[in-house]
Amino acid sequence: MSLRSGRRLSAALRSVGTTVAEWDADARLLSRIKQERPDAVVVALHGGEGENGAVQAVLDLLGVPYVGTGPYACRRAWDKPTAKAELARAGLTTPDWVALPHATFRELGAQAVLDALVAKLGLPLMLKPDQGGSALGAHVVRDAAELPSAMVGALSYGDAVLVEQFVEGTEVAITVIDGPDGPEALPAVQIEPADGVYDYTARYTAGLTSYHAPAEVSPEVAAAAGELAIAAHRLLGLRDVSRTDAIIDRSGTPHFLEVNVSPGLTETSLLPMAVEAAGRSLGEVFATLVERAISRSR
Ligand SMILES: Nc1ncnc2c1ncn2[C@@H]1O[C@H](COP(=O)(O)OP(=O)(O)OP(=O)(O)O)[C@@H](O)[C@H]1O
Ligand SMILES: [Mg+2]
Repeated sequence: MSLRSGRRLSAALRSVGTTVAEWDADARLLSRIKQERPDAVVVALHGGEGENGAVQAVLDLLGVPYVGTGPYACRRAWDKPTAKAELARAGLTTPDWVALPHATFRELGAQAVLDALVAKLGLPLMLKPDQGGSALGAHVVRDAAELPSAMVGALSYGDAVLVEQFVEGTEVAITVIDGPDGPEALPAVQIEPADGVYDYTARYTAGLTSYHAPAEVSPEVAAAAGELAIAAHRLLGLRDVSRTDAIIDRSGTPHFLEVNVSPGLTETSLLPMAVEAAGRSLGEVFATLVERAISRSR
């Protein structure tokens, strides 16, 4: 995924006249950066390595300008319960949730804890790792009997599970790009998985999911989704680019699920679809962000 994103981005940047080198995040990276002193770096890594702030902290250490969010804000966005708590505190809508570490189930008895979760949050529930991506370890639970295996599934990807009320509705992803007048939301992209769940297979198998860009929602709902994504971008201190995942319920209210600081850039990714729906090009958008990164460092 990261490799494909990197290649697509390189091609887009080259098409607008930018000189690009593609480097893996491996043991050679630091010496390459020190020797070649790039004007700016674009982090096209997804998952923990690119989104938890580690690479960004190292780039800060080296004093190299980069496109995207700084290390601490990356961490805040990467940890789903932390991001949700920030948004909820500001009065924004996010599904009610409880996040618990593995040890709690072990020490207090899994069944008793699960019973308490259902009593508080009701059914259906969404269980997922508290950090992570690509819907790995995410499960919808419609019957309490499915809870133990869903919990084990989520905990196999991390140390804690996020248990959330399941929101029935229309899934959208909203890309936010920083512009001269502050953060701007691109048209929301609507996601329609063939069997209703946007899981790993639905994401990366051609034809299993259809997308609408812009989303087929009313102008008021589209505006509300854009406002939610801009609020998330601002509240969490994100920079340059982010993508908020949300579900619009039957009444038209968008619910914040999570925000990505390093959104996918492949042919089947949501950010490039939003850029195209906005009548812009991926190369132009990222070349402008690269310029912003360079001018920040001056
Ligand atoms: N509370 C919820 N109600 C309904 N569906 C949900 C809920 N939470 C997650 N989902 C579904 O599960 C998918 C994965 O959830 P989420 O976006 O939180 O995780 P992710 O694995 O981090 O994904 P990404 O790869 O986009 O970072 C969503 O795209 C959505 O289809
Ligand atoms: Mg997501």
